[in-house]
Amino acid sequence: MLDKIEILPVSLLESESVKVGELKKLASSLKLEFGWHYLLDITWILRQLDGIESKSIIDAGAGTGVMQWYLAENGARVISVDRESRADLPPRFRRRFRVQGLRADDLAADYASVRGMEGINHRTIKAQTADIVDLLKYKVNKLSNNKGDRKSGQVIIYNQDLVNLVDIADDSIDAIVAISSLEHNSPEGLGRVVAELMRVLKPGCALLATLGAARDSDWYHEPSKGWCYSEGTLRKIFHISSEVSSNYDQYDQLFVELQSSKELRENLASFYYRSGDNGMPWGKWAPEYQPVGICKIKGDI
Ligand SMILES: C[S@@+](CC[C@H](N)C(=O)[O-])C[C@H]1O[C@@H](n2cnc3c(N)ncnc32)[C@H](O)[C@@H]1O
Repeated sequence: MLDKIEILPVSLLESESVKVGELKKLASSLKLEFGWHYLLDITWILRQLDGIESKSIIDAGAGTGVMQWYLAENGARVISVDRESRADLPPRFRRRFRVQGLRADDLAADYASVRGMEGINHRTIKAQTADIVDLLKYKVNKLSNNKGDRKSGQVIIYNQDLVNLVDIADDSIDAIVAISSLEHNSPEGLGRVVAELMRVLKPGCALLATLGAARDSDWYHEPSKGWCYSEGTLRKIFHISSEVSSNYDQYDQLFVELQSSKELRENLASFYYRSGDNGMPWGKWAPEYQPVGICKIKGDI
């Protein structure tokens, strides 16, 4: 694998249509929705990943996003890092995957089981029944596709800022993925985050991240509270040599192709329709930036 900087071509959604279908099915069975370009981001990163099963993979800025569950389902040991706490992770994730906290308070006990009778009311019974029905449907669907149960990995919840992964040893991680999360750090802050991610990565292994791309100079996209970075800034922060080519020279054409993507436009998540200040006001398809992927290999030090 080599260093890479690539604006994500939307054609990937067609060439990787099987993977796209798998991701959508997994998301729907977990009642998760994708940010408007995340399907493209996840597909790009999965294409670069060098193996999943039995690997230790950090999902950096994971939230409760789809990627970590996809990796776990395919046998990875995922360390799910986010500065927003997931201690109260809903039961549906815990029932389906092996989930634990890295530290005692990273994951609270499953409230549905510890609250006992007190916590049971008609609403929780209804919600839990719906979860179980979803899970059964998913399992039946998988068996009918003759895939059987895949070997399941685990997800380890770590509620921590990426700038200080104090509980993770140097050179211990096989891969790091970051779906549209690192851009929520200023250009200065991002440099410190990248240095910390490179510390925990094993030499020769990859940091794979998607961020917002800026055509000319860095700018802040207020609705998503994220930065869009120029090629120069990304090269500097991720230490990508000028000998590595990029497709930033095709920025305009790639953006037009993204704007005309039927797949992304017609599958906008329902939350976009509920607000006017989310980048797709009231569900109106109006992309203002496009995602870029970075692959940074940790060199031997
Ligand atoms: C837009 S969300 C994307 C979540 C997830 N990757 C997904 O695919 O749904 C960005 C996430 O990155 C997290 N994040 C950004 N910078 C971070 C940092 N320095 N440390 C920890 N989490 C961070 C935020 O808290 C947020 O949950």
